[in-house]
Amino acid sequence: MKLYASSASPFVRKVRISALELGLAERIEELAVSLSPVNPHAGVREHNPLGKIPALITDTGEALYDSAVICEYLDALAGGERLYPAKGPARWRALRRQALADGITDAAVLVRYEQAARPAALRWPEWIDGQWLKVRSALDALEGESLEGPFDIGAISVACALGYIDLRFGEERWRERRPRLAAWLAGLSDRPSVAATRPS
Ligand code: BEZ
Repeated sequence: MKLYASSASPFVRKVRISALELGLAERIEELAVSLSPVNPHAGVREHNPLGKIPALITDTGEALYDSAVICEYLDALAGGERLYPAKGPARWRALRRQALADGITDAAVLVRYEQAARPAALRWPEWIDGQWLKVRSALDALEGESLEGPFDIGAISVACALGYIDLRFGEERWRERRPRLAAWLAGLSDRPSVAATRPS
C-alpha cells in the first residue's frame, strides 16, 4: 500500500498510529508530499480530487480517503473490530469522539493556514476567534468525559488533535483548565505507536 503523507499532518498521524496498532505499518510505503491550501498537489489530486492527505492507494490500486475511511479500511484488513467497535454504544461513542476530535483538528488546521499562509491584509480575526471557540468548546467537552478504555479510533483521534495543538499552538496552554485530559494524554506518552509518531 502507498500513503500520501506529510510529516506534520495530524490526519496522517491518525493513519500512522492505527497502522502501528494493527501491525500493518510495514506494509505501507509513505510518499511524502508538501501541500498548500491554494495549490493542491497534482499527484495527490490524481487519486483524491480534493487534493487532500492522507490518501491511501491499496494493493489493488484503489484510492481511499479521508483518515476515517483509511483507518477503518486498515482495521478491516487486520481482521476488524480492533479500532472500530462492531456495534452498540461503544461503536457510536468511538465514532462520535472521532468526529469531535477531527473537528478540533480541522478548526486548528484552518487557524494555522490563516496565520501561516494567508496574507496579513486578508486575515479576518473574528473568523479565527470562531475557530478557536470550536476548539476550546470541544476540549471542554472532552474534559467532561472519561477517555479511559480501549485505544480505539476515538481515542486515537483525540490524541492526534491534542498533539497538533501542542505542535502548532503551544501558547494555547490547553492543559491549564483541563487536568483530566492532560493526565490522559500524558498516560499515553510511552505507548509505542504514539511515541513513534510524535510530530517534531
Ligand atoms: C501543518 O504543517 O500544520 C500541517 C501539515 C499538513 C496538514 C495539516 C497541517
